[in-house]
Amino acid sequence: KLDLDALRALIATHADTPGGLMPALHAVQAAIGHVPPEVVPLLADTFNLSRAEVHGVVTFYHHFRQTPPGLHQIEVCRAESCQAMGSDALEAHVEHKLGCKHHDKSADGRWSLEPVYCLGLCAMSPAIAIDGQPHARMTPEKFDRLVAALGD
Ligand code: FES
Repeated sequence: KLDLDALRALIATHADTPGGLMPALHAVQAAIGHVPPEVVPLLADTFNLSRAEVHGVVTFYHHFRQTPPGLHQIEVCRAESCQAMGSDALEAHVEHKLGCKHHDKSADGRWSLEPVYCLGLCAMSPAIAIDGQPHARMTPEKFDRLVAALGD
């Protein structure tokens, strides 16, 4: 259950910041993993915007999730160096293995998959992150081992 009072208080800490909507959105997502529709009116009131404007920002930036993430979050780097080292094929493997596409969650709620643009491991491309932990020189076999090792 959402604690709207706590979220209201969190959003209020950005109320006096110029352009405070973006940091407030990041703070909400950092706190609960997504930006649920229920917080849109709180954000609109706080920043003197219409609900449609807030909704527009939430949907424009793919970074913001409107539904809770999967149990484990997988990010595949799609920036230049990783692309040059075969991240497209790796990505296809990951999508198939997890049963979900980018910006999506697997039907069993176990995985969510997001693209990322450089994890700072370009010298060891291709790179992915699992639950925020970067992994370099990724191969389909290595990926399968890593996800199997999560074993929960
Ligand atoms: Fe993928 Fe930098 S381009 S880690």
